[in-house]
Amino acid sequence: MNILVINGPNLNMLGIREPEIYGKATYADLCRLIEEHAAQLGIDVTLYQSNHEGALVDAIQQAYGKADGIVINPGAYTHTSIAILDAIKSVSTPTVEVHISNVHQREEFRRHSVISPACMGVICGFGLDSYTLAVQAILNKVASDAEEM
Ligand code: DQA
Repeated sequence: MNILVINGPNLNMLGIREPEIYGKATYADLCRLIEEHAAQLGIDVTLYQSNHEGALVDAIQQAYGKADGIVINPGAYTHTSIAILDAIKSVSTPTVEVHISNVHQREEFRRHSVISPACMGVICGFGLDSYTLAVQAILNKVASDAEEM
């Protein structure tokens, strides 16, 4: 089992960027948390971050046939990127959208995601735990799909 965790623009700035919203933990701390969680579950994770929309599309496409699931925090592209929406639809791999902050408690423009229609579900507002909850959700989905077969 291999889960691809993708982070979009400015998530490499965690710990520096608006710590009152995103917390003090750095991107390296986030990677460590996800890797430790995956090790406890006995699964593999691949971590990827880019500030560029096309690079995020490439990462999603490259997951085709390789990853069992995708966890994605598209950052600000959440609210604008039809290219990322289409990429997720293209690979038909179970995908969970995550956000560190509760986007519904923030500015109006953050309340709408163009990505969500292509995702299994959305987890937001749990800080870095949003990612580990999403990994667990994919694991549950893959296990229940396997039982049905
Ligand atoms: C975010 C929320 C987005 O609105 C914002 O543009 C981000 C981070 C979050 O994790 O809370 O970059 O996706």
